[in-house]
Amino acid sequence: MAKRHPLLADRTETMNPSAIRELLKSLNVPGMISGAGGFPAADSFPVEVIRGLIDKVLREKGAAVLQYGITEGYPPLRAALAEYVRERGICCSPEEVCVSTGAQTAIDAASKILLDPGDCMAVEAPTFLAALNVFRAYQARIIAVESDEEGAIPEDLERVLDAYPIKFTYLIPTFQNPTGRTLSRRRREKVAEILVRRGALAVEDDPYYELRYRGEALPTLKSFAPDNVIYLGSLSKVFSPGMRLGYYIAPPPFQEFMTTSRQAVDVHAGHLAQAAADEYIRGGHLKACLPSIVELYRSRLETMLKTLDDCLPEGFARSNPDGGMFVWISGPAGFDAVKAQREALSKKVAFVPGGAFFADASRGGNTLRLNFTLVPEDKIREGLAILAEALASAL
Ligand SMILES: Cc1ncc(COP(=O)(O)O)c(C=O)c1O
Repeated sequence: MAKRHPLLADRTETMNPSAIRELLKSLNVPGMISGAGGFPAADSFPVEVIRGLIDKVLREKGAAVLQYGITEGYPPLRAALAEYVRERGICCSPEEVCVSTGAQTAIDAASKILLDPGDCMAVEAPTFLAALNVFRAYQARIIAVESDEEGAIPEDLERVLDAYPIKFTYLIPTFQNPTGRTLSRRRREKVAEILVRRGALAVEDDPYYELRYRGEALPTLKSFAPDNVIYLGSLSKVFSPGMRLGYYIAPPPFQEFMTTSRQAVDVHAGHLAQAAADEYIRGGHLKACLPSIVELYRSRLETMLKTLDDCLPEGFARSNPDGGMFVWISGPAGFDAVKAQREALSKKVAFVPGGAFFADASRGGNTLRLNFTLVPEDKIREGLAILAEALASAL
């Protein structure tokens, strides 16, 4: 390992760029079939619609949307979002919604105002890698709540809350990253009941809400426990990730400090992007574009699941997502996903070994995450045939 520069802060010791570096590297190799990233399909972006919206916004609002704006966000977009999340059972005023530079900066803002070095916080095991990296950067002690096919296990959450002074629990209840699992309705009610009874706080990260390919939408945790949940949404999967727009709805004391903390970071999300997103939602474009995105991903997911069922070696199991972007694969004891990754990369197929998604580096060595949204169906089939051989050879 390279010697650390003496000027680097202690917190950089917890920053491990390797998994993300590998992932991004893989996307740039010509001919690579990448199931590694969490990227939407490029052909899902409504390029012409967005061109028209930006033109309209510049024509009608001119310099106003090129000027600095307020940290809370572009007021018409906040009003549009307050209306937009109502179907998720979230009743809030426009003033309670703040726009962020992607959901990612809202994860950072919540962590910054809640975590002192050494504080305990809880996550599902496994969980979103980039969120783990935020919690590590704030030098938190990350405690695992176990999960299964129905999502986080409420009894284990209760155990963790009993055993540690947890500041907050970070949960992705719907189409979780990395597993694709969804917290069942029964468990949502139970988790909300635990939060309310104990006066505990959760961050509900919900960037995949709209990407449902089967089954009925479930109420958000926020709808069951509004005072105990900081809710995070994203426009990355239904508008454009490059626009960098997310939003947060937090109980008042947290909302105020999250916003203040962002004044020292990004000041506000891009004003022009916010104005275009406002038109996108208000003008009915999101509603019009979403069905084709959902249709595209539904058939890619079906192709991936069917192909996996045909080709996964014995002893391997997959998750059964109803939406989102990821399928999770678990191998038998002794299977080494990092070894399989090397083998697959040499044949131009990429995925992320599952260990990266656990706070405890010794876990998840026999697991991996596959993305199904970026790659067309013929390439999914071709890539999975190669993957199956790599899995078998890494047993
Ligand atoms: C669970 C989760 N949260 C947050 C994000 C970040 O979203 P955004 O692009 O809005 O920053 C992602 C993106 O992949 C994600 O999977």
